Amino acid sequence: MSMQSSPEIEALFSERRDFPPPADFAAQSNARPDIYEQADRDFEGFWAAEAERKLSWVQKWTTVLDWQLPYAKWFVGGKLNVAYNCVDRHVENGLGSKVAYYWEGEPGDTRTLTYADLQREVNKCANALLELGVRTGDRVGIYMPMIPELPIAMLACAKIGAPHVVVFGGFSAEALQGRMVDAEAKLVITADGGNRRGKVVDLKASADEAVAGAPTVEHMLVVQRTGHEVAMTAGRDVWWHDIVDRQSDQCEPVAVDSEHLLYLLHTSGTTAKPKGVMHTTAGYLLGIATTHEYIFDIKPDDIYWCAADIGWVTGHSYIVYGPLANATTSILYEGAPDHPAPDRWWSIIEKYKVNILYCAPTAIRSFMKHGDEWPAKHDLSSLRLLGSVGEPINPEAWLWYRRAIGGDRTPVVDTWWQTETGMILITPLPGITTLRPGSATRPFPGVGAKVVDAMGNEVAPGSGGGYLVLTRPWPAMLRGVYKDPERYQQTYWSRYPGMYFTGDGCKIDADGYYWLLGRVDDVMNVAGHRISTIEVESALVDHPAVAEAAVVAKNDPVTGQAIFAFVILRSSAQPSDALAGELREHVGHKIGPIARPKQIMFTPELPKTRSGKIMRRLLRDIAEQRPLGDVTTLADSGIVETIREKAQSSQAEQLV
Ligand code: PRX
Repeated sequence: MSMQSSPEIEALFSERRDFPPPADFAAQSNARPDIYEQADRDFEGFWAAEAERKLSWVQKWTTVLDWQLPYAKWFVGGKLNVAYNCVDRHVENGLGSKVAYYWEGEPGDTRTLTYADLQREVNKCANALLELGVRTGDRVGIYMPMIPELPIAMLACAKIGAPHVVVFGGFSAEALQGRMVDAEAKLVITADGGNRRGKVVDLKASADEAVAGAPTVEHMLVVQRTGHEVAMTAGRDVWWHDIVDRQSDQCEPVAVDSEHLLYLLHTSGTTAKPKGVMHTTAGYLLGIATTHEYIFDIKPDDIYWCAADIGWVTGHSYIVYGPLANATTSILYEGAPDHPAPDRWWSIIEKYKVNILYCAPTAIRSFMKHGDEWPAKHDLSSLRLLGSVGEPINPEAWLWYRRAIGGDRTPVVDTWWQTETGMILITPLPGITTLRPGSATRPFPGVGAKVVDAMGNEVAPGSGGGYLVLTRPWPAMLRGVYKDPERYQQTYWSRYPGMYFTGDGCKIDADGYYWLLGRVDDVMNVAGHRISTIEVESALVDHPAVAEAAVVAKNDPVTGQAIFAFVILRSSAQPSDALAGELREHVGHKIGPIARPKQIMFTPELPKTRSGKIMRRLLRDIAEQRPLGDVTTLADSGIVETIREKAQSSQAEQLV
């Protein structure tokens, strides 16, 4: 088959409901329309100008970019401190009484931290770290619930130049241990527990188990959050209130080199050993502060809420460092979105008059499933901008989000990026870009991205799907995989010489809009057509009865692979054979007969990772009726068993 007649990935789904920026939004937007042209003309100059404007330097850099593929160094020769940039300088500039975080615990308790409060707490924590023997360059593990001490601990590390290694509080002892061993962490900061859906999560017990097998860890610093009884090991464990509270609230920031390691964050992946992604100081901070300002159109009085967990890169970049660098007021919420009822988020938005909400499609689809009545109970008129991240967002979910949450008024920015990219790379700018539901639109100013075929040839816009690659270095890019340069080279830089391989499928439409098609491993091959899972899922979610769908390929004697669809219905719809038939026809109608699922199974839930990504690998195991692979990264391992039993008992219920 020639490359011309058979695109890498078929791009069948077409979505054409455009939303130009509202005139009043465009008139006040932070980004001006010439930003693209300016950045394109000289991307190093663009970033250098932003670095002068946005960051405070102890020593200015001498070279903007030193690019020795695959290693980039940004702002070489510069010295600065991230915590100073995120906290101290705002207090010096008279913003001490501005709120940094409105925090809300799951049980309903609240705390408000101003920038001055944050400065005092960070300094005390930094001094406690010093007392516990942590020095510049030492790695510190952090395993905490979403409480104010989590960003405080991260900033305290940054203040003394000790890279942090945050591990999501929902991960197991085993996951924590592996990451602490990889990082050779000297100290672990944790809590007795956290609150999740009305229950106490016993973090300390997991941390104890993890640290037992992580010999480099000398101390554990423990925040008392829940107050339940926990074991403290004498000589090793220290309560936060015993050591932090008695420290001085003054601490000199350590000026570190631009390329000093700020943190490691392990990407869990679905199969292989997690990679310790390395992010450094100046370029990272600049990349996220700049994208945060332009993409979320941040204004001094905005109340901004990124509803991710800080344990993921989204939280590192867009709850902690980006918003704080921009002196933003943020919401921090400890618990589950549906506790005690599915309108918890909407009540928070109403209470704090949130202006900007940034969350994941998985959350949006689950709210869609609960129905419009939950957001309708609340006044959400303070919202002026919505964002989405983490997965492709189905056009129907995008439209629901804009309508039911954004009151048919707010732009929705669908932002594409990765743990490795550190910052958002493909995204609309809400005052400039005409939005197209389901598309992340185009690369951020100064970012180089294109779509190539298997041979590395560029796929022309409008002609089909291929692989998304990045063609220029960007300031927040990862600087390597910790202690594994070969894996860094192999994973990202070996597939196409000179280009960063994202691992994502993508198509660019005739108007230059980028459509992310999911991970390349998720592409299905049906009768010789390579079809991306997201397109079929979007066609299913386009049907009014469907809230969420996941499709996988199942081996098929006739077509090579056939499409097996797992479908979650909205609460208003009932499963039936007739509906399954209707859904098949709907997909056939939306994208073509080739994409019609051969089997449809109705299910109440889908197996997801703890960050909300659907684990298609397990759904493939279920579809093939084979034993399940590794389930340790699942958020809820019960779900997969339920689906499997259902699939077995009915031999895939709706055999069409
Ligand atoms: O497949 C893409 C998907 O999430 C992957 C990165 O996951 P992670 O490192 O966990 O970071 C998530 C938060 C940045 C990408 O390779 N992804 C992320 N955002 C989008 C997306 N897919 C489509 N559209 C998006 N907006």
